[in-house]
Amino acid sequence: MLPSNRSPLMRSKRFHAPVRVVRSLDAMQSLALAWKHEGQRVGFVPTMGYLHRGHISLVERARRWAGPAGKVVVSIYVNPTQFAQNEDLGKYPRDFPRDLDLCAAAGADVVFAPRDGAMYSGGQPEVHSTWVIEDTLSAGLEGRSRPTHFRGVTTVVAKLFNLVLPDVAVFGAKDFQQAAVIQRMAANLNFPVRIIVAPTVREPDGVAMSSRNKYLTPAQRDQAIVLSRLLIEARKRVRASTTGLDPIRLREALRPVAAVYPLARIDYLEFFDPRTLEEADLVRRGTRMAVAAFLGDTRLIDNGPL
Ligand code: PAF
Repeated sequence: MLPSNRSPLMRSKRFHAPVRVVRSLDAMQSLALAWKHEGQRVGFVPTMGYLHRGHISLVERARRWAGPAGKVVVSIYVNPTQFAQNEDLGKYPRDFPRDLDLCAAAGADVVFAPRDGAMYSGGQPEVHSTWVIEDTLSAGLEGRSRPTHFRGVTTVVAKLFNLVLPDVAVFGAKDFQQAAVIQRMAANLNFPVRIIVAPTVREPDGVAMSSRNKYLTPAQRDQAIVLSRLLIEARKRVRASTTGLDPIRLREALRPVAAVYPLARIDYLEFFDPRTLEEADLVRRGTRMAVAAFLGDTRLIDNGPL
């Protein structure tokens, strides 16, 4: 059966020019250099494929930014270095033909899909010994639960920026910390790229779109709503307070909400300053909340402003 996000986009595919697929790193960089030479604007959306409406909203955003004459590149690459050994690299969902249709329908010009292994020293990962490490914003939240994750993300995104040479790159707010880390990396390393952070796209029941939702059993999918429910409840309490709330007390107050969803195991629930990502001493309007939870083996994340 097709995933629920497929049909409306698929219907429009025949009205769109097929997207050009680039596999080789050299070919991508030559194309990007030729565009630069012509003065083209290039918008870029890095992804790991198995696209959903959230990704498509990023591609559409890049398309709007680039205008009809500019170029939009979507990369599809399941980056091994951002997965720990116990994580889901081997079973990460893939559907390349469907991704191509979705990219074409959303107005992408090029899908850059490097072959497995080519990104890291021509298939010899042991020869790859250069890493990009952002060591402040990546320390907490996801970084605490997944210690090598952001090193993999910043390294692959730096490589992708060097291959695609984008003027603008669009990331989703669902991975708020990732977007902040990449913004910091781009600024610190002087990549001439502007980072746009686009809003999280949600299912009608509030669950944030994620390729990993595919792993959920129907019962787990029903209870995945716990993440957005926790956000809504926290927001309600913060908005009702004139003085701000103690984070420990607020976390306690949210326990009964989590208890309604016994299939979910909360990994962390944190309140933080959206500029520094430091833990908040006092939770008030503008503080951001991030939550990660396991449903079975599947780990989902969500976040939002309070
Ligand atoms: O957000 C993702 O899908 C990945 O972390 C990214 C940015 C494509 C890097 O592999």
